[in-house]
Amino acid sequence: MSKMSKNKLNLTLPPGSVDVPLATTPTPSFKTPSGTDYVLRNNLLGKPKNSIDALTETLEELEMDENARKRIKVFLNQKEKIGELSDEDLERLDELGSGISGAVMKVRHTPTQLIMARKLIHLIPLKPAIKKQIIRELKVLHECNFPHIVGFYGAFYSDGDINICTEYMDGGSLDTILRRSGRIPEPILAKITSAVLKGLSYLRDKHAIIHRSIKPSNILVNSSGEIKICDFGVSGQLVSSMANTFVGTRSYMSPERLQGEPYSVQSDIWSLGLSLVEMAIGMYPIPPPDQKTLDMILDDNDDSSLRQNVIGPTSKPLTIFELLNYVVTEPPTKLKHKSFSDDFKLFVDRCLRKNPDERADLKTLMNQEWIRKADLADVDVAGWVCKTMDVPPSTPKQKASLLT
Ligand SMILES: Nc1ncnc2c1ncn2[C@@H]1O[C@H](COP(=O)(O)OP(=O)(O)OP(=O)(O)O)[C@@H](O)[C@H]1O
Ligand SMILES: [Mg+2]
Repeated sequence: MSKMSKNKLNLTLPPGSVDVPLATTPTPSFKTPSGTDYVLRNNLLGKPKNSIDALTETLEELEMDENARKRIKVFLNQKEKIGELSDEDLERLDELGSGISGAVMKVRHTPTQLIMARKLIHLIPLKPAIKKQIIRELKVLHECNFPHIVGFYGAFYSDGDINICTEYMDGGSLDTILRRSGRIPEPILAKITSAVLKGLSYLRDKHAIIHRSIKPSNILVNSSGEIKICDFGVSGQLVSSMANTFVGTRSYMSPERLQGEPYSVQSDIWSLGLSLVEMAIGMYPIPPPDQKTLDMILDDNDDSSLRQNVIGPTSKPLTIFELLNYVVTEPPTKLKHKSFSDDFKLFVDRCLRKNPDERADLKTLMNQEWIRKADLADVDVAGWVCKTMDVPPSTPKQKASLLT
């Protein structure tokens, strides 16, 4: 074992430090856009009474285009028919993937025929009061309705597992897409980034939530071209309960967080920058590949077997502590290759500053040239998702339902 792997800096692995999804700190206090939210939350926790009206009212206060508003209204109306979710009503259709915390399945809610994603988080036996607390904390997700946040149907406890049911995204997550496509083209990445920034701003401004787990597997896309973030930290108790379940090989965590310092949404911006480099070059960028490797990957081909040859047998992967040490002690990764625009390189550079105060904030990033141009650009994200993931385009019938 090398010296580096002995954790020279005494870095700790707090829950969430490596590929763990939720909050490491207690649930943040809940700031609300208007004084109505307390009532709203009580409605949702008890038997929802006029909850759709209350949520729709909240929706009107948010900036989004009419189509997006209609989509959310359709979602909320469908959701209202569901009532309490339970194991017996969910028919398993497919396995969508698995992460550190458990597995995600595609399921059908038989009474309504709605298709959902069901995430099962297996926890060591918990006291009933703790289970109840987790489910209660997760209910904040009912109030997170925004075009770039994955929709939440409900959470329940069954058979030793916490179950979280969300909107099914038929394009899957960006890590899956990346495995299929090798890399993600810059114009698509710019659209994705714009969506993630809007999602993060919404969570911060309307719910005082920091995401805490931005990475390619927590950004989802669908055949309508929607881009949404998921698995953000709402339940502090869930995280505490998962504290010792971690196994992982890579980290998207900022240097300040790895060192146990206080952190803010600036930490999510580091994670976004690192994810962008990975999706642009098609490999996890710590340690960064040398120029020759980059040229081989980016210059003239999409051959992922070549990439495997370059990074596979020749370079020994870092141990997790070597990797964390690298993030904390070495200069941040840069996007250097000539195939990327200067605007993109500058954007990444502003995200990947080790000092969080030097890192650009959400507002500054949203006003960067790269994002402003992306917001005006006509990019066919839906077509790209369908082609890459081999999923059928969303049907005219689905589109029409938005317009009624
Ligand atoms: N709502 C969803 N719709 C479609 N696919 C999903 C959905 N949620 C998750 N998935 C798929 O399931 C996979 C596993 O998700 P999961 O959240 O368990 O893993 P992860 O994101 O790698 O880890 P973490 O537990 O840190 O979030 C994802 O990579 C994605 O492909
Ligand atoms: Mg996830």
